[in-house]
Amino acid sequence: MQALIIHGSRNPEGQTARAAEACADGLRGQDVKVEKVFLPELGIERCRQCEANGWGICRSEGRCIIDDDFEALCQQIRQADAVVWANPVYFSDLSESLRAFLDRLRRICRHEAGKEGIDGTLAIGICVAGGGGGGAPAAAMKLEEIVSRCGFDMADMIPVRRQNLEHKVEVLKLTGAWLAGYSARV
Ligand SMILES: Cc1cc2nc3c(=O)[nH]c(=O)nc-3n(C[C@H](O)[C@H](O)[C@H](O)COP(=O)(O)O)c2cc1C
Repeated sequence: MQALIIHGSRNPEGQTARAAEACADGLRGQDVKVEKVFLPELGIERCRQCEANGWGICRSEGRCIIDDDFEALCQQIRQADAVVWANPVYFSDLSESLRAFLDRLRRICRHEAGKEGIDGTLAIGICVAGGGGGGAPAAAMKLEEIVSRCGFDMADMIPVRRQNLEHKVEVLKLTGAWLAGYSARV
């Protein structure tokens, strides 16, 4: 099994990374190969809403016309058996890099060609409110909605706040291990 962690934060030492790494530890403990990407390091533009009606070749061909890192990451997702979406909570919402990627992904996933290898893929969501600690459940709802719309099978969603990070790290290790076993059964 192969899992891909997609980070919406840029800090590999940050709270979101710590939470995601706990999930990765649980996966690795079950011999799952884990890869990770940090979206702010990639060049991924926001959607251009190409045509007057708001659509573009995303609707007709299931791909995006913008020549940037989007397609390569889509291919990485298609190789993965499970994807962990790690979101730092910004304004009780998704981070800008995660939003830009998912906005484009949900469009291509409306088409058979675009959603091939993505539809039905297991997913875990992690939303870390690392400031005051508010907004993780609200961000989790938004993440769940958009990731599910892309066709992923959202197996679990873990909201985290700065004040319960230590406790949630343990939950996330168990969740990673559980995901590996769950995936093996389906
Ligand atoms: C623009 C912005 C908005 C933020 N909004 C919230 C928020 O609504 N609630 C909260 O607890 N923390 C908020 N934070 C803090 C982030 O959640 C925190 O930086 C993040 O979870 C941890 O980032 P890290 O993974 O890079 O350590 C915000 C941070 C930024 C930069």
